[in-house]
Amino acid sequence: MMQRSYIAGCGSYLPKRCVTNDELSETVDTTDEWIVSRTGIKSRHIAADGELTSDLAYEAAIRALEHSNTDPDDIDLVIVATTTPDQTFPATATKVQARLKMKNGAAFDIQAVCSGFIYALSVADNFVRAGQAKTVLVIGAETFSRILDWEDRSTCVLFGDGAGAVVVKADPENSDGIGANARGILSTHLHSDGKHADLLYVDGGPSSTQTTGHVRMVGKEVFRHAVINLAAVVDEALNANGLERSDLDWLVPHQANKRILDSTARKLGLSEDRVVITVDRHANTSAASIPLALDEAVKDGRIQAGQLILLEAMGGGLTWGASLIRW
Ligand code: ACO
Repeated sequence: MMQRSYIAGCGSYLPKRCVTNDELSETVDTTDEWIVSRTGIKSRHIAADGELTSDLAYEAAIRALEHSNTDPDDIDLVIVATTTPDQTFPATATKVQARLKMKNGAAFDIQAVCSGFIYALSVADNFVRAGQAKTVLVIGAETFSRILDWEDRSTCVLFGDGAGAVVVKADPENSDGIGANARGILSTHLHSDGKHADLLYVDGGPSSTQTTGHVRMVGKEVFRHAVINLAAVVDEALNANGLERSDLDWLVPHQANKRILDSTARKLGLSEDRVVITVDRHANTSAASIPLALDEAVKDGRIQAGQLILLEAMGGGLTWGASLIRW
């Protein structure tokens, strides 16, 4: 029997500086009206000079460790999902490991852009199921502001900085076969389609230009693929567990655009008050957006034990995925 994993606690962190659309429009040729009507975004947080992805990741991590009553010495694995690492190498996860003063375990980064948290959660869940780890710290952390072209109004208004973390633990009470009503990560589902890489990418990298590059996006096409792929992977997750759309209590989606969230919720037959939304205040924080939203809804009491939670994301690659969790 494979051991089921569950989320024992969560935490998140946002940089102090909050930038509204009106403030942005002082330096970018845009308006609050355009941004809100196309995306639902009203403000975003931007990291301070010298504040790195590993700093945001560490702050989120210590909150998740505290919330789950976990000692850093008990962590077997640290996974950081990020597209904006401190450096090309070493992995940002190893920096977090050092700051947590961990003497054991392994640490590595995962790169799946906006789907990064779902990918990292899937790796954590599979390590636990395989019996190779009992306690995994999973973090999504980004300083996306650092790879934006602030001259390109079609992308720079969409993103923000932040970090969220969860502690995934093996559940000694529950193994596979116990069914969808018992606590834990029920399943994870990952996809990618590399032929659409040119829809959303960074125009630089160590091997190609020896620069970091800036985000480039064909927004309308990304939007179209997001709506199609997310609907498909959501049904895949429900079918894999013999569950119906009506069984869902909460949708905790990657926060790219309010219109994508509304469209996914409509397809699921979920009313807006069952969707956790942070895009209005955080914008798109890439791999950090799901754990940031999850933490908010857990801490304010919306998400309760026994409820069925659906996480989903799509991002550059293209990559996409979903996870169903019985809280
Ligand atoms: N302010 C004012 N005008 C702008 C801005 C801006 N910030 N950006 C673009 N425009 C202008 C363009 O220049 C263009 O003008 P033109 O028609 O005179 O050439 C016009 O607005 C384009 O507007 P629309 O066609 O209405 O744009 P659209 O409705 O496609 O919205 C958007 C653009 C918001 C990017 C949308 O396509 C989108 O959200 N796509 C999804 C992309 C996304 O969320 N990516 C995130 C990563 S992937 C993921 O996480 C799912």
